[in-house]
Amino acid sequence: MEACSWHVRVLVVALCLLPLASEGRTRHYKFNVSMASACKLSIYTGMEMKKILPVQVMEKNYTRLCSTKSIVTVNGKFPGPTLYAREGDNVLVKVVNHVDRNVTIHWHGVRQLLTAWHDGPAYITQCPIRPGGSFVYNFTITGQRGTLLWHAHILWLRATVHGAIVILPELGVPYPFPAPDEESILVLAEWWKSDTEAVINEALKSGQGPNVSDSHTINGYAGGPVSACSSSRKDGFTLVVEQGKTYLLRLVNAALNENLFFKVAGHRLTVVEVDATYVKPFATDTILITPGQTTNVLFSADQGRGGRYLVTASPFSDSPLVAVDNRTATATLQYSNSASTASLTAAALPPQNSTTTASGFLDALRSLNSRAYPARVPAPVDRSLMFTVGLGTNLCASCVNGSRLVAGLNNVTFTMPTTALLQAHYFNVSGVFTDDFPGHPPVAFNYTGSGPNNTQTMNGTRLYRLPYNASVQLVLQDTGIIGTESHPVHLHGHNFFVVGRGTGNYDTTASPPKFNLVDPVERNTMAVPAGGWIAIRFIANNPGVWFLHCHFEVHTTWGLKMAFVVDDGDGPNESLPPPPKDLPSC
Ligand code: C2O
Repeated sequence: MEACSWHVRVLVVALCLLPLASEGRTRHYKFNVSMASACKLSIYTGMEMKKILPVQVMEKNYTRLCSTKSIVTVNGKFPGPTLYAREGDNVLVKVVNHVDRNVTIHWHGVRQLLTAWHDGPAYITQCPIRPGGSFVYNFTITGQRGTLLWHAHILWLRATVHGAIVILPELGVPYPFPAPDEESILVLAEWWKSDTEAVINEALKSGQGPNVSDSHTINGYAGGPVSACSSSRKDGFTLVVEQGKTYLLRLVNAALNENLFFKVAGHRLTVVEVDATYVKPFATDTILITPGQTTNVLFSADQGRGGRYLVTASPFSDSPLVAVDNRTATATLQYSNSASTASLTAAALPPQNSTTTASGFLDALRSLNSRAYPARVPAPVDRSLMFTVGLGTNLCASCVNGSRLVAGLNNVTFTMPTTALLQAHYFNVSGVFTDDFPGHPPVAFNYTGSGPNNTQTMNGTRLYRLPYNASVQLVLQDTGIIGTESHPVHLHGHNFFVVGRGTGNYDTTASPPKFNLVDPVERNTMAVPAGGWIAIRFIANNPGVWFLHCHFEVHTTWGLKMAFVVDDGDGPNESLPPPPKDLPSC
């Protein structure tokens, strides 16, 4: 049972994180990708770290919403194991593929400085790990601390193959906020009763949108305490707290296609970090978190009378045309002095289409910008780009309406290559991609209006080339073609500053003077608002090929993706090293 020998190893790794550890050490993990039911399973004890409460339970059969299916997991767990490291650590994860389909793992938000080969998106930086194969991801965590996530980066496999990354500050370096007494991880995701690959394949055949999920989940549990039919453990995830203590919650949105609101009844949440960067703390009732984003919040167990409180993850969508899964995921916050039968306090959910709640939250997000953690906002800019993001249609004789829904940037629907772009770039293989991705919309129009009559897009594997160290401003503009919609855009290999955000069309004259160049939030994923735009800035200081895409998996599938080629610099440590020996071939 080789695939099942993981828990001892995880425990050993965990013990090394206790105060004996010295700075910048190497941490070894093994990720066995397998079908959940392949192992003789035991309840996971949650001993990964002393002060972090247990997250996952291993199950033999994944029964959710009164329906059972087998799923692809890492080490038999859903959500998968948490990867712990400290800032400065070198992390080695041996991924072994025990399933009958191709796999890659992406370390979402990890900067991967000079380690583009280890980023993970299939056919972008690597060919997939084939059935029976393995690959050792090897990267160093540099200048980041907080919560990130890892997930499969091929087709829709990340639906069940995902987990949290916890990056602790360097040894002896405190958090820039009062240290919590305990920490816990809440991974938010979605559950389909059907196989997710079947869901998207069906949609691609018809040319229409895929079925929405059957429920949201919190730490793997669909439904929860207010659900008639939830999981084998009927109450869902329970976080037990002690009166008077403070807690750090590490929130991860691993959902495929939905922005989520997160709430804890009866408790204010103080946001302290997003996407592994510190922010100016602010208190709020409701968190907005899009797929690919992570958020750390503090709260005090300060309800004098104790009791039980409902924790909710519910969808946010302000595009009337888009179907969403409106089944809220719930969990329980329970005071240790209260019986599990104590009455449950609920709070009103934010309305599903509450643009006001969403933008209020985003307006409050600012970089900490302290002396220890300055916001180094790129200025001036030497590359000013604008990409439209949105939907379109392509002809399709066999589809329901004679056309299929597609998506793209600057009217280009990205065609996936059959060999990895990074290899093609590094070894100068021609014919795999072109570097003529348009830096501006090919045609100017009233972007957020109803759009042109011709909604057809161009197809191509077109990349945009950036010289090393270019200071880039990128405006991402939603379109009204088919319908306006939110697009959580993720850039690999870089963090960016969100210097501006607005509704309607970006205005080259009126918008820039309103930019925040002092303390804008720094992150790796940010939603373009439905019918609006964002302006981001980053320094292209990481040679390689870096994927940029909508983190709604349905839109990625439809082609809302492109990549930047960042050339080598001339100085030392400014060139991408050769690929690792075990890099899979296509
Ligand atoms: Cu979290 Cu390209 O992905």
